[in-house]
Amino acid sequence: MPNENILIIDDEPVILNLSSEILGTVNYRITTAHDGEEGLKKLKAGDFDLVITDIRMPRMDGMTLIKKIRADISTDIPVIVTTGHGTIEITIESLKHGAQGFIMKPFTPKELRDTVEDTLRKSNIIKENIKLKAFLPLFEINRRLFSEVHIDRLFENIVEEAAKAMSAESASLALAENDGFLNVKASIGKVIEGERGRIKIGEGIAGLAAKKKKPVFLDERTKIAISVPILSKGGLIGVLNLAKPAGVKPFINSDIEMLSILCGQAGIAIENAMLYERVKSSYTGIIATLASAIEARDPYTAGHAIRMAEYSKSIAEEMGVSGQAIETIYRAALMHDIGKIGIPDNILLKNGPLSEDECRIMEEHPDIGRKILENMDGLADVAIIVRHHHNRFDEEPKEALSGNREMIMCIRIIAAADAFEAMTSIRPYRKAIPATEAIEELKRMAGSQFDPDVINAFIKILSRHGII
Ligand SMILES: [Fe+2]
Repeated sequence: MPNENILIIDDEPVILNLSSEILGTVNYRITTAHDGEEGLKKLKAGDFDLVITDIRMPRMDGMTLIKKIRADISTDIPVIVTTGHGTIEITIESLKHGAQGFIMKPFTPKELRDTVEDTLRKSNIIKENIKLKAFLPLFEINRRLFSEVHIDRLFENIVEEAAKAMSAESASLALAENDGFLNVKASIGKVIEGERGRIKIGEGIAGLAAKKKKPVFLDERTKIAISVPILSKGGLIGVLNLAKPAGVKPFINSDIEMLSILCGQAGIAIENAMLYERVKSSYTGIIATLASAIEARDPYTAGHAIRMAEYSKSIAEEMGVSGQAIETIYRAALMHDIGKIGIPDNILLKNGPLSEDECRIMEEHPDIGRKILENMDGLADVAIIVRHHHNRFDEEPKEALSGNREMIMCIRIIAAADAFEAMTSIRPYRKAIPATEAIEELKRMAGSQFDPDVINAFIKILSRHGII
């Protein structure tokens, strides 16, 4: 499909006309120049797929031209050398400087056409290979980016993967805010000068990349530090900044191509994660509303779930429970008594001790809670914790918790926080117990009803806050 742009450079007008005519008949788009200097000017101004150049020319010879093309214009554009003074030295020299083809003058139309066709074909294969090579790591990167919905971890993953793929020594990601600034969210290594904290859009290389929505180099000559905009649906999400150590291979065209694809994927992943955060917070809102709806039936327990969720979260953090499990524990704490929805008012709101039968009915609430929650999206773990929130420490759980130590820890934390909150709150049949007495009670039951490690962690938090 010959419609490539070819630049022919030769000081002999006859050769220029003849070559243009031969290649023009195969529908190549031809531009001509009479020496290296004119050729270089046209190359800088236009977009060419192939250069055919003579070697001996006035002003700038072919060899100098090839060196300048490789240094200043492109490492990829194929060059064919034509010369009437064909020696093996010239051939080797031109190949060494990046020429892909060689034609001896005088040449036949077929020789010229075949060499051009062959060189363009090889160049296209190389370009395709570069693209394919660039895509391979992207599959792995995509998998990592799209499996992460926690926004801060996603920022870190993008920075790590981009730095790894580009062999960069430092990388940072800045998110575009509504106030016209970029805010650095994650970084590794030395941060590019001027790219710390907040960056004004339009200033510095990150700010310029954001404004132009195009990659920008810190220095066009060295090409070792680059800012690439992260876009999604044409809108600016942020900027990815990368810098290589001095003296190593600079960023080349295929790197920029790969970075643009990576930033495109990063943009979608960031939007997904933001959407997830919004859905999650509205979900947590719904859960909190549900929890308060349960409490609304009994004014004496108003705020119980939220307070004990906060206690549970603090204990979990004190004990080094993972971030994901802390989120689960918080939700489970909010919902722990949701099963009370199925307990009749005359038992739930009874002003006095419950009979044996009433106790049995009341004890069904963890199971009812589990049934309500287990089919809700993403609440399987919460449902299990809710089911077991009245478990004693010294009793084997009624079902195997598949050896999940973190899940067992969540249950034990909630059990202690629940008891403490209930004791320190007023009830229709008794006054609130002071925190110091409540904790003494928990200490007394540590090792039997409650986990001693949980109680110790709780005591540390309460002392730190001057509560006990
Ligand atoms: Fe309960």
